[in-house]
Amino acid sequence: MSSIVLFGPPGAGKGTQAERITISTGLPQVSTGDMLRAAVKQKTPTGLEAKGYMDAGLLVPDSIIIDLIRERILLPDAKNGVMFDGFPRTIPQAEALSEITNVSHVIAIEVPDERIVDRICGRYSCGDCGLVFHEIFNPVPTSGCECGTFTEKRRADDNKETVQSRLAAYHEQTSPLAEWYESRGIFHRIDGDREINSISEDILLALAK
Ligand code: AP5
Repeated sequence: MSSIVLFGPPGAGKGTQAERITISTGLPQVSTGDMLRAAVKQKTPTGLEAKGYMDAGLLVPDSIIIDLIRERILLPDAKNGVMFDGFPRTIPQAEALSEITNVSHVIAIEVPDERIVDRICGRYSCGDCGLVFHEIFNPVPTSGCECGTFTEKRRADDNKETVQSRLAAYHEQTSPLAEWYESRGIFHRIDGDREINSISEDILLALAK
């Protein structure tokens, strides 16, 4: 069993690429952000604790995240590995992950900070199937979403103020992981400031290495 990590700043395109790579690899997408948002919506104890951190653009404590992943990895669809989207985000999370499952590739989608605000503030998704779009860069087709229906949904943390905190958290707590994974020889840098399909092609090439 071998898993993939999609790594990068907020709005880099991790979720967008995960939707595509999951089709090619068959690995299920495991997004800690999606899991936390579901917990917040259901008002579970985890969700109630995580909400304040997420609204402020701060990282949720490692212990909460690691418990979520330990549970998720036990589900039957994870038996051949998973594609982590937005996890790990700290060195303690990466250390815990190395005890839980083998990671074969860490795909770092690199996008300059100045592009991030536009990407995040223009994001919306289909409230029915979850597909992610962008007002300018990736709008929902005029024929509608591929699920057949479409209700626009926006994230509570997609605003200019929170983006700055999320970027700061990325640079302070998450970016040191690049060196951690580079030293293990499984880190692949992908230029994420390009057209979506070209990025997907390069990710698939990196995964074949
Ligand atoms: P999470 O949900 O993981 O958010 P994030 O990392 O901030 O990343 P995003 O989902 O915002 O961006 P993305 O890279 O998936 O970009 P997307 O594909 O949507 O986390 C939310 C919060 O939960 C965190 O702040 C934290 O509080 C908590 N959390 C989650 N995991 C945690 C962890 N492990 N530890 C601690 N706390 C955790 O693309 C963005 C937009 O750009 C879209 O509109 C898209 O259409 C567009 N786009 C994509 N690619 C391109 C392109 N190539 N060109 C132009 N536009 C593009």
